[in-house]
Amino acid sequence: MENSVKQLVLSGKRIISGRGAIAFLKTLSYKRVVMVTGGRSMITTGIMDKARDMLEENGSEVKMIFGIRKNPSFEEVEEGLKIFREFCPDCVLAIGGGSAMDAAKAMLLFYEFPYLNRDNVIEYKDAGKIPAERKTALICIPSTSGTASEVTRGTVITDVQQKLKVPIMTDCLRPDIAILDGDITMTMPDRIAAETGMDALTHAIESYTNHNLDDFDEALSKAAVTGILKYLPDSCLKQDPFAREKVHNYSCMAGISFANVGLGMVHGIAHSFGAVFNLAHGLTNAVILPYVLTYNQRDAQVREKMEELSYAARCEGIILKITQLKEMLGIPRCFQDAGITQEEFAENRQILLEHAMLGATKVNPVQITKEVMDKMLDVCFYGKEIDF
Ligand SMILES: [Fe+2]
Repeated sequence: MENSVKQLVLSGKRIISGRGAIAFLKTLSYKRVVMVTGGRSMITTGIMDKARDMLEENGSEVKMIFGIRKNPSFEEVEEGLKIFREFCPDCVLAIGGGSAMDAAKAMLLFYEFPYLNRDNVIEYKDAGKIPAERKTALICIPSTSGTASEVTRGTVITDVQQKLKVPIMTDCLRPDIAILDGDITMTMPDRIAAETGMDALTHAIESYTNHNLDDFDEALSKAAVTGILKYLPDSCLKQDPFAREKVHNYSCMAGISFANVGLGMVHGIAHSFGAVFNLAHGLTNAVILPYVLTYNQRDAQVREKMEELSYAARCEGIILKITQLKEMLGIPRCFQDAGITQEEFAENRQILLEHAMLGATKVNPVQITKEVMDKMLDVCFYGKEIDF
């Protein structure tokens, strides 16, 4: 493990957790709050109204943006930005899954720093020119247990024209308050609970097996792996509130860890397939995870860590355990089983390959060549054995 000086953030700025934690909103007072959410679930379950009432009771004026879709696009961000600029909020409250939180974060970034836009944001970020501080508060209430956007310094927005997911990681995107309310996770359909839970598991494992892992994040990511493996089945298959709340908390811990440490090739490939075929992020990770772990265990450090995880999770082998979990949760074995045709795969192969080499693949514990990635695409699409 590399010995270097690191600055770690071992929590979001503030985390409020527990069943009914949404009531914390009653203690806040802002002048104007923009609430951002995804599809209908947060509206039909009354959670948006409940949150709005709490804010209005304290004198806040509230505006809602809803309908953010999975894999939110720059176009959706720009639409929301118009409302931000008209309304001039001093607080942004994102309630929903990763897409709602990520879209809200990107809207806030462009609102707070008007010189930033989709064309120059990466250039500014890479040059370290995005300030860490901002004036507008950011509060996130996740309704799913996967993305951990409520504690990370990132957002992922899709460039639809280029079929490319663009991760934007910068300190000012770390929310001021994360509210983890187990009751809200009960609104998740089982399929979403399964897919997002597998995303959280992927965060925990990619972080734990990353060569950049430090002692502090080791504890968080290891606890998250074993906790998610233990509680995800009951959370999804029995809708057990205790298990669901546990997965919610472990998902957040995995997020804290990967925000410091980084991820790996599972996410690199997942972003590529997700953007091209508009697949749910958790589903793509779940499909890919066992294959990448099988490949990565050629690295001695990864192999040792996977043995540690198998021991901690009291299972024969972590890859076998994940494969069994996928089956139990009804997650497809490969992308062909997920409904992508061979023709669609062949047609998009070049772009899939180019984009899978980007992002988190660059920090995979095993360095990846394009030739290897080309073979990995076949493995993930057909569910083939790794014989290279
Ligand atoms: Fe993820």
